[in-house]
Amino acid sequence: MQIDILTLFPAMFEGPLTESILKRAQEKGLLDIQFHDIRDYTTDKHRTVDDTPYGGGGGMVMMPEPLVQAVEQVRGADDRTPVILLTPQGRVFTQRVAQELAAHPRLILVCGRYEGVDERIRQSVITDEISIGDYVLTGGELPAMVIIDAVARLIPGVLGARWAAEEDSHAMGLLEYPHYTRPPEFREMAVPDVLLSGDHEAVEAWRRREAIRRTWQRRPDLLLTADLSEDEGWFLAELAERDAPMLG
Ligand code: ADE
Repeated sequence: MQIDILTLFPAMFEGPLTESILKRAQEKGLLDIQFHDIRDYTTDKHRTVDDTPYGGGGGMVMMPEPLVQAVEQVRGADDRTPVILLTPQGRVFTQRVAQELAAHPRLILVCGRYEGVDERIRQSVITDEISIGDYVLTGGELPAMVIIDAVARLIPGVLGARWAAEEDSHAMGLLEYPHYTRPPEFREMAVPDVLLSGDHEAVEAWRRREAIRRTWQRRPDLLLTADLSEDEGWFLAELAERDAPMLG
């Protein structure tokens, strides 16, 4: 997958994209990330990218010319590639959106800065707008990194075979079951017997039930759309009778 990032601050991406799994994905040729400094598309001596808003008010607005130029040149003739603006006004990013984006061979991410972008940028070149949550950050760079991380790990070959992304929390529509490793007892807290039993079927059943229990306690909203078997539905009904979720 190719990801083009349009930003005023390419240096912000050093670190998150140059370590660990994302580094290896690029070395293996599974992920190709290209940075484009929006300032390189200005035409004036001061390389201006923003200006005061018409109508007054505080803050600065990103001007249409450099950003639209940048998108058009980076995109080229390829008009099927999503051009995604990171903004708190976008649709909310979830695992489902990550899966949707992972199906594209190429993405263009546009990082907004300052108080916003001139509305005509949206109208002319943006095809999608994404928010990573209901809070306001100083720009789209951190959201772009979040999206790249979540999408890259869904590209086949990026995670090792034993780390199947299909079993992720959220991919199943449930939170994950509790994990344990050695030692079998730590500060008088023992690993559940079933995990030491060697009975794979029993382990699977236990994990599935604990995932449902955890989801009921922490994110009962997810259970509205989770895919549960009839037995699991009964298990949930029993849970619901005994304890209320921990909300808030
Ligand atoms: N830019 C500023 N805040 C943001 C958010 N929550 N998501 C995406 N882009 C943003």
